[in-house]
Amino acid sequence: MDKFLITGGRRLEGTVAVSGAKNAALPAMAAALLTDQTVMLHNVPRVRDISTMGRLLAHIQAEVEIPAAGDGAVRIRTEKISHAEAPYDLVRTMRASVLVLGPLVARSGYARVSLPGGCAIGARPVDLHIKALEQMGAQIGTEHGYIEARAPAGGLRGAHIVFEKITVTGTENVLMAAALASGKTVLENCAREPEVGDLAELLVKMGARIEGVGTATIRVEGAGHLGGAEHTVIPDRIETGTLVAAAAITGGNVRITRAEPAHIAAVIAKLSETGAAIDTFEPGTLCVQGSGQPAPADVTTQEYPGFPTDMQAQYMALATQADGTSVITETIFENRFLHASEMARMGADIAIEGRRAVVRGPSRLTGTAVMASDLRASAGLVLAALVAKGETVVDRVYHIDRGYERIEEKLSRLGAQIRRIS
Ligand code: EPU
Repeated sequence: MDKFLITGGRRLEGTVAVSGAKNAALPAMAAALLTDQTVMLHNVPRVRDISTMGRLLAHIQAEVEIPAAGDGAVRIRTEKISHAEAPYDLVRTMRASVLVLGPLVARSGYARVSLPGGCAIGARPVDLHIKALEQMGAQIGTEHGYIEARAPAGGLRGAHIVFEKITVTGTENVLMAAALASGKTVLENCAREPEVGDLAELLVKMGARIEGVGTATIRVEGAGHLGGAEHTVIPDRIETGTLVAAAAITGGNVRITRAEPAHIAAVIAKLSETGAAIDTFEPGTLCVQGSGQPAPADVTTQEYPGFPTDMQAQYMALATQADGTSVITETIFENRFLHASEMARMGADIAIEGRRAVVRGPSRLTGTAVMASDLRASAGLVLAALVAKGETVVDRVYHIDRGYERIEEKLSRLGAQIRRIS
């Protein structure tokens, strides 16, 4: 198992490019199941979750090409679906495998998808995905740990669906199914995340008729048939935010390119409040100058366009260095503070009270062995290690490899002392 060895204390300086968004590329790959023609994607990050999705599509008998190098191109063609199944082994390594459920039932009339189960950050049920597909006429049962879904004769039909709770992959799953179903679908209380918008853009290129993307109400006129398309995935807003936080925590001076600053407005606002100077004059670029002494600021995670839960661990690392108390409230997942106890082992003063973490800074962090528990928690630990005195060993780096493309190379080019050991 790989580890990162990080020696803290270096200010980050230089230019770094953001990769494509993992959480936009995953639904885009699943959308390729909706057509028998070729879907060509660009700017797909070379991260582990993308290879897992590639393996899943290949299991379904799609032709998948993911070249190791290049511009992040991925070519998928699903001439026919002869094996509409997402097996447990793949779903347990990546919950986003559930994204094939909607496309499979819509295209082939049948899907068998392993139930994802909980993960380190919470219970994470998929009841809302199932309920919505049932409203579109699917018969769905769960047995032996699998969701088994069958479309009615004539295929899925449009429906009026109101999500009880905002769900990102739930909105995506149903949007894909509705694009191919017959008749009109109205989706209410939808996720407004940019990744949903990017998926809708791809679906429209494939021939779907979709209105209201980026708002809480999306209207879809089922197309019955979708064709091939070529699409460039949006920049990863969480990687962008992580790099902004890395510059801020080290008091560095970093230019971040190939980004979409508009997608992280809430992160920019919060990090500016802590004293970082963030300039977005140049299109697709952020210039970040850390303040040297961050100020404390409270934050509450929210659905987009609020402050993302996927930036909460990274923000906590920064808060340990702030001159005063920051209260961090996590509203999306019930158990997303596992990184706090690891940061405390490095010397941080963090008290967890239910969904709130009270972080008292500034703490002098010292390097030690820490364990990553999930993707974003690992990113938070890497940021803490960048300012810790001495050497930090971050174990279970496979979590970070799921969603960050060559993070250690990007950070070391900015001057961080970080290396991977096997
Ligand atoms: N929820 C339900 N029932 C459902 C679906 C969701 O109760 O059927 C609850 C969840 O348990 C959670 C809340 O609704 O409390 C929101 O969950 P959501 O469904 O929006 O999360 P997700 O779609 O499973 C995506 C991202 C996550 C990100 C969340 C929140 C992908 C592939 N994953 O997950 O990304 O944290 O939205 O923004 O898009 C990550 O990249 O590290 C990551 C975890």
